[in-house]
Parts: sequence; structure tokens; C-alpha cells
Amino acid sequence: MKGIILAAGKGTRLYPATEAVCKPLLTVYDKPMIYYPLSLMIDAGIRDIMIIIPPGEEERFEKLLGDGFHLGISIRYKIQYKARGIGDAFIIGRDFIERDKVCLALGDNIFYHENLSDFIRKAGEIREGASVFGCWSENPEAFGVVEFDEKGTAVSLEEKPERPRSHYVVPGLYFYGGAVAERAARLLPSARGELEITDINRGFLEEGRLKVTVLPKDTVWFDAGTAEGVIKAGVKIMELQKNGRYIGCVEEAAYRRGFICRERLEALGRRMKASDYGRYVAGIARGRTG
Ligand code: G1P
Repeated sequence: MKGIILAAGKGTRLYPATEAVCKPLLTVYDKPMIYYPLSLMIDAGIRDIMIIIPPGEEERFEKLLGDGFHLGISIRYKIQYKARGIGDAFIIGRDFIERDKVCLALGDNIFYHENLSDFIRKAGEIREGASVFGCWSENPEAFGVVEFDEKGTAVSLEEKPERPRSHYVVPGLYFYGGAVAERAARLLPSARGELEITDINRGFLEEGRLKVTVLPKDTVWFDAGTAEGVIKAGVKIMELQKNGRYIGCVEEAAYRRGFICRERLEALGRRMKASDYGRYVAGIARGRTG
């Protein structure tokens, strides 16, 4: 399975914070925002990853993540010159996906649940169609909303509806069994001028090929696209990490997935030993369970 992280958002809703640094490289508590979706992808067992970035940011991403070799993965970068919506990720990534299955993660979505790995790995076992999640939200009208019937089957999907039919939103982590690039190429821009991921998913829903896994109500999910989102996510991450287990730790995810050996993990931690994060990584290498 291939992985695409859409991290091309300049983050105009965060100006002036994103004037000189693009949104996915901003810090959320103790690590760059992009670590959160990247660690989920590694957790899902995906090693071949394309990160879609804004123009002019290549050097900074390279500096942070390089080609992914240190994490036992392969990372390549592709520039999105014009923000055309989430569906554009599949058009940009078409040659990369080839005929493979693909997981798409949005660069500003932050998730946490103690059993999240299990849900993600299950969703990653997809053979065909699409597999997405449903997450309870206080303000569903700001997102893609999924409605269920009394048997729990998804019956409708709407993007930012004025009157949401449920409190369940579809967060930015999507799995496709194949042929999604072809669908994206056929999409027409929505009223807000974007190629909507919700339109792609609705196509699968109408064909009876969309699986929606409802995440437990205590799942932590943030769309860190606003100043309030970034700080709220940061505070929550800080609190959760006090329990001893870090969230969004790409080095740990790579180690637990068997992508890197203990020695490599230890060396990665040592390089950052002046920070709690670095000491945590080194501690995992020395056998601490987190
Ligand atoms: C996008 C999607 C929406 C999804 C959300 C998750 O919204 O269009 O369906 O629920 O990401 O963060 P946008 O970021 O474009 O407002």
C-alpha cells in the first residue's frame, strides 16, 4: 500500500504564524505537526510515502525528514502549485500510486486513542472500495458529515452541511482499495472551487463500497487548521504524554513496526538527547515500554 500525506496547506488561517513556515511544519506541543499523520502511516505499516508540499518548502521538509531512510521508509516530495482541494492529491500522486492501494492522510489532522493502531491496521487491510472513519464532533458542520441508519450503516455523506444529519464527521485519514486516481480525475470542483474528498467517498457509498468505522467516543481528534486548534491539540498532547506514552513519535512507530533496529532507534534518540522527546526515544531503545 502506498501512502500520501497532503501537507500542501500554506495555512492562511494561521497568518502571521505561517508567513515564513508552512502549516505542516509548525510545532504542535513538542514536534512538527507532520509527525502526527506520518506516525499513523508508519503504524499502518506503510513504507512508501509521498508528501505533497507547498512550493518553496522542499528544503525544509528535506532537512526534517530527508528521504525517510533513517526511519526505514521511503519518502518523496511532490509540490502542489495550486490548492485545488483534497481530491487533487490523487491526481498529483497518480503515477506514484500506480495500481496499488493507497492511504491518504491530511497533514493537519491529529488523532489519538489507545486502540487507534488496531483500527488503522484493520482499515489498512482493505481489498477494494474505500474505508474511512467516523469521529464524534461537537461542531460537525465544519467537516464532512456521515449519517447512519438504525443498523449503523452509513447512508449519507455531506461536506460542511448547514444542518448536519449527525454528529459524526469523517476525519482526514482515508484508505482506498484502488482506482481512486481515476475517480479523482473525473471530479468537478465544488461550490467552494475544490475537488472534494467527500464527493469521492460518496461515489463509493452509493455503490455500497464504503466502509465507515466509528471510532470510540473518547478518541481525540483535532483539525489543527486554526490558532485555537493548534493550541488545543498541543495542550491535549502534553497532558496525554504525561501518562508516559508519546503521540506522533515517528521513531517509535518505525521501531515498533520493525522498520528500524534498536541500535538505530537509540542513535536517533541520542542525537536529540537535550530534549524530553529525544530522551523518550532513547528510553524506548533501552527497553522502556512507554
Ligand atoms: C477537509 C474535508 C472534510 C474533512 C476534514 C477533516 O475539510 O473536506 O471532509 O472532514 O478535512 O479535517 P477542510 O480541511 O477542507 O475544511
